[in-house]
Amino acid sequence: MDKLVIEGGVRLVGTTEVSGSKNSLLPILAATLLTKDKCVIRNAPDLRDTLSMLRILRFLGLNTDFKENIITIRPNGLEKYEAPYKLVSTMRASFCVLGPLLARYKKAKVSLPGGCIIGVRPVDLHLKGLSKLGARLQIKEGYVFAEAKRLQGDHIYLGGPFGSSVLATGNVMMASTLARGTTVIESAACEPEVVDLARFLIKMGAKIKGEGSPTIEIQGVKELHGVDYEIIPDRIEAATLIMAAAVTRGEVLVKRARAEHLTAVLEKLKDVGVTLKNVKDGIFVKGTQKKFKPFDVVTLPYPGFPTDAQAQFMTLMSITEGISVITEKIYPDRFMHVAELNRMGAQIKREGPYAVVHGIKFLSGAPVMASDLRASAGLVLAGLVARGKTEISRIYHLDRGYEQLDAKLKKLGARIERVKE
Ligand code: EPZ
Repeated sequence: MDKLVIEGGVRLVGTTEVSGSKNSLLPILAATLLTKDKCVIRNAPDLRDTLSMLRILRFLGLNTDFKENIITIRPNGLEKYEAPYKLVSTMRASFCVLGPLLARYKKAKVSLPGGCIIGVRPVDLHLKGLSKLGARLQIKEGYVFAEAKRLQGDHIYLGGPFGSSVLATGNVMMASTLARGTTVIESAACEPEVVDLARFLIKMGAKIKGEGSPTIEIQGVKELHGVDYEIIPDRIEAATLIMAAAVTRGEVLVKRARAEHLTAVLEKLKDVGVTLKNVKDGIFVKGTQKKFKPFDVVTLPYPGFPTDAQAQFMTLMSITEGISVITEKIYPDRFMHVAELNRMGAQIKREGPYAVVHGIKFLSGAPVMASDLRASAGLVLAGLVARGKTEISRIYHLDRGYEQLDAKLKKLGARIERVKE
């Protein structure tokens, strides 16, 4: 296993570029199951999660090719509809093959994904939506067995106890593209990645309206054809790079970052005192020595502050003098990074879905452990700004969702090395 060794205290300076969006790519890869034709997907980030999803598609009878950030998918005539536990359990997002398999083959057998370190991660909304479309669902031995002669469009409310669900919206939207009649999804997720998936489906010939709003209408069609499609940049990676520049007081142009996908994050950073400028092909973080102000944040479904940027913001608040309260409304247990930041001298107290951050002057480098994708990113930012050396172990978590983050930071001047553990 690899670890990252970071010598803190360097201001990041220069230009970096955001890769394609992981959370756009994964459901879009599942959507290629909906057609017999070839699909080409461009700007695909080279991540562990990308390889995991391609492995599942190959198991389901698709030929996959991936080079220079372009994925080509070709069905090979095999019509397999079972996604096994050993593959699904490695990455929860693979559960969104259920909707496409059901729509295409009228049956599917997909392993329940199980929970993960950030929470229980139920799939009840996925199952509710698919059964509303007429699927007969049975849960046995950790698998969902689904069958439907022909899916029938319906009016489906997909709101859950924590608001909308990104992948449940994707699963149901994909299934309803080949259903008979019209489907309306109420309380749909509005994330840019859901919009990207809808646009991919529309390019395949699906009839979808309202994507990006809480009400999406899908008119079922008989079949979908292949596409050549470029996915959007990763807004969470953009937020991570912007906060890396901010926390080190650096001066960085983050190319391909789209301000319209990051309003809540950019507004919060401006409140804190970070100087940001939207430029033609990205977002410029202007260096400043002025004192940052502590600010509270509450994570919410889009367009609220994204839970996937919560750990990174906590690192920024940990060295911003004063008190800030971080409320996690999406995954109340998503605080694995708190204990690790406190090992670096941070003063953070977790109370249920709240973390009270008492900002201090500086963090001290220490050996820490990555636990989930975004907590790992928060620890990298802490290492960049801490005094002394930080070693982050188990960085395969980071490699699931960031394309060469260490190389990008090194290019901006960070003293960061990837070494074998
Ligand atoms: C997507 O996960 C993202 N993953 C997550 O990013 C992200 O944190 C999450 O959306 C929220 O924005 C991908 O897109 C691959 P949800 P998803 O269904 O769709 C509850 C990352 O770091 N819920 O929107 O699985 C759920 O427990 C990952 O890139 C139900 O109750 O999340 C959570 O509290 C981590 N029942 C809330 O809804 C369900 O059936 C939002 O979850 C489904 C979800």
